Parts: sequence; C-alpha cells; structure tokens
Amino acid sequence: MMDEDFKPKVQSALAAEQPIDCKFSYVSNDDAEAMLYLLNFLLDEVKRPYMKDPVGFFVREFITNANKSNLKRVHFQTLGLDMNDSETYYEGMKTFARDFHDKLDVYRKDVEKYQLYTAVQYFLKDNVLIITVKNSGLPTLQESVRAQTLIEKSKAIHDVAEAFLTLGDTTEGAGLGMVSAMLMLRSLGLDEKAFRFLADRQNKETVVRVHIPLDTVLESQIEEISGMILDGIESLPAFPEKLSRLQNMLSDEKVDFSKVAILIQSDVALTSELLRIVNSAQYMLAQKVSNISNAVSLVGIKGLRNLLLSYGAQKILNNHFGEMDAMWEHAFRCASYAYYIARDYNLKDLSGDAYIGGILHDIGKIIIRHKYMKLDEKLSAYCNEKGIEANLLESLMMGASHARIGAEMARKWDFPDQIVIAIGFHHKPLLCQEEFKTLVALVYLADALTKVRNNKFVFSKVESSVLAQFNLKSRKEAVELEARLNSYYQQQKSKASE
Ligand SMILES: [Fe+2]
Ligand SMILES: [Fe+2]
Repeated sequence: MMDEDFKPKVQSALAAEQPIDCKFSYVSNDDAEAMLYLLNFLLDEVKRPYMKDPVGFFVREFITNANKSNLKRVHFQTLGLDMNDSETYYEGMKTFARDFHDKLDVYRKDVEKYQLYTAVQYFLKDNVLIITVKNSGLPTLQESVRAQTLIEKSKAIHDVAEAFLTLGDTTEGAGLGMVSAMLMLRSLGLDEKAFRFLADRQNKETVVRVHIPLDTVLESQIEEISGMILDGIESLPAFPEKLSRLQNMLSDEKVDFSKVAILIQSDVALTSELLRIVNSAQYMLAQKVSNISNAVSLVGIKGLRNLLLSYGAQKILNNHFGEMDAMWEHAFRCASYAYYIARDYNLKDLSGDAYIGGILHDIGKIIIRHKYMKLDEKLSAYCNEKGIEANLLESLMMGASHARIGAEMARKWDFPDQIVIAIGFHHKPLLCQEEFKTLVALVYLADALTKVRNNKFVFSKVESSVLAQFNLKSRKEAVELEARLNSYYQQQKSKASE
C-alpha cells in the first residue's frame, strides 16, 4: 500500500463520490499505518490537513477495537464458550486480557482460519466524510451495552485526565479509547450524535461509523478566533452615561420615583420604549398608560433596571454595528417565550430576568458578525493559513463562542450576574452553577422553541433534563407549548403597536 499507486484511484473515487474499501483479516501494524497514510492523503486532497490528527485517532482506535473484537471471538471459540450467554461471557473475558497477549500469534492465525475480517471504508459524500469500520460477528448484548454506556459517560467527561479518574470498569480495558474518541469528536466541533455503534444483522457484523462534515471547524480554531474577537471587546463602547446614572439611582431601595421619571422623560426614545413595554400584554392592564410616573411605579425597581439593561444594550449595539432586524425579532420572540414559560410554570419571580435574558442571549452574535464583516487582518490571515472557509461565521454563531463573547460583553457593562450567566450558558444549560440553573433553562428552552417557527426544532437535540424540568414528554407536547407561547407573543406584539 505504501507505494503511490493508490493515489489516482483515491482521487477518482473522491471525484465520483465513491466509497474506498479495504478489507483485512487481522490488521497488522503495517496495515493500520497504510490506512492512516491513505486517510492523510485523502484529507490533503480535500484540503483539510488539520483534521489528520483527530480523524486519524478514530481510525486507529476503531481498527484496534475491530481487531480485538475478532480475537475475542477466536478466544471464545477456542474455549468453547458462548459469547452471547452473559455468564459464560464474563468467564471468557476473565482470561481474554491475558490470552490476548500470550497467544496472539495463534489467535491471529485463527482469525484467518475462521475467515474473520476487519473492513475499513472511507466515503466522501456531500462534503461529509463517513468512516466505517466493521468486524465479523454481531456485537453481543454486553458489547452493545458497554458501548452505549461509554458514549453516555463521555458526555460528562471534559478531558482525558478526567476520563482516567471516572472510568471504573476495566474488564475490557478502561474504555478510555472510546471516551477519548468521543472527546476527539468534540474537538472537531461534533458530538456523540456523529457516532454510531451498530449491529448489521444481515451481514452479521459489528459496525462503527462516524460522520464528519468537512466544513466543521475545529474547536481549537474556534477558541483561537473567539480569543481574537474577545480582545476586541476591550474597545467596545461603554454603557450610555444616562442609563448608568439611572441604574445607580435604582440601586437605592428608597429611590424617589418622581426623580427617576424626570430623568427618563428627558430621553424621548427611552420614554417611548418604557411606555411600549408597560402597555404590552405583559402587564395586562385594562387601560393604556401614557404617564411616565405611573409607568415607573407599575414596572417597579427591578423591572426598570431590566428595561434599562436591554434598552441600553440594544441602543449601543444598533448604533455601533448597524440594525439587525432579524436578530432582534428572534431576541424578542425568545424573550417573550421565556417570560411566558416562567409564568406558566409557576416561576413568576424569574419572569423578568428570563425576559431580559431572552432579549440579550445572542448579543455575542452581533459582535461576531460585525468583526467578521470587517475581518480584520489578523483574523483573515489566520483563516487563510488554516484553510477555514465560509462556514467560519456559521460555526462561530452556532457554537458556544457567541455565548461566551456575549457574556463577556455583558460583564464589561456591569450587568447583574444572573444576566451574564443566562447569556453565557444559554447553549450549555447544564454546565452553569446551580443557583442560576432554572433561569438559564428558561432562556435555553425558549430559544429552542423559537426554532419551531422555522422548522429547525429537533426535539431529541434539546437537553432531556430541561425537557423533564418543564414536563415536556414528547415533541408533540413541546410543539403545543410553542403554539401557546406564539399566540401570547402575537398578542403582545399587536397590543404594543396599537
Ligand atoms: Fe444562541
Ligand atoms: Fe438564539
């Protein structure tokens, strides 16, 4: 394989979107190296050299597993034990670790004798690289359970060191390989959903498969780019002076509302914003309020503080980065959803913060888009060098970096902790500190439900613990909740524009 004859074949397979198949009985080290060499060539061909390490890791890991799985079958055959019987399975596994080393040469020959095999396939289709590694024999129940357990466990593991500490079961090796593979997926910006462990009943094979979209941007690259953008935050505009003054006044519990009203009235835009909010469906007033003093006392200290935050942030962002209607439309919808979910689920105390969290959750996107449009020299040089293409903006927007950047900005503007956290964790609701979990879950769920409107809502992608928290047991229930939220939102909108 190490001769170069394979290259034109690979090139034409890539051009025709045809799979590249290789089949081995026992995969020797040389065979494995050849498969990696082939993979590296392929990744160079599609201009993704930076994927060699993480993707190569999978290939190596899964070939090793497939080999081992075949040897295991030989081992059971030799002992005359049934792999599919759970009692004899454990019995056979006790001696496998030892025999696997001691009898490797004999077992290898037996792999050939019994015509067991490992097959590797690289398949590039629609810009997705699909890697499949198969071995002979259906997985046993224990093997399937183990694979699923490791995938599940890996979700809570952040790095290899943690994996060492967490993984207890060592009967078949600590499962480090599998967990590391999942960590590797994450470094590719993917998650365990890109990975499949399957039983092919027809061909009686154990199959592992990973789907890697080539337009994935590596986590490390995102980190680096986010860092460059964060550097730029230092030069962001300060919070408007008048709004800061109001904030300070409101931090005093015994504030004189008439003074607050006077200060608000001196700003026409702020006045109309306040009236708009007070008169929206949120406050369910019988009559329209047009008097600022009344509005101020209706909204209360906390309400006013929240109003100033969101109003100030919008103002700065629109002034400096241009209006982005679609984004604000999404933000207001999300805010309204978060607010009404809080009310519907007896979390009224959180409704105000949920609303503001909803308005502000994606502010990081504004900064990213702006930076991206300007693509300063440093950033574009970096992207050119790494061969990162048009999908970068998308990756930054979709991933957690806009949350981080948004939170950083909110912190710079001295927003209260719960708002900074709501912004920072709105895509990772399970990772935030306990104290703010419910608020973050509200914003997260609201954000997820806004996707129903554009058919991008995927029930299975929503964190199951959040769904459980809001008692949503099926996609149907989630969609019904969204329909209710949407009608509140429409009412609120029409009332505000009356
Ligand atoms: Fe977001
Ligand atoms: Fe969002």
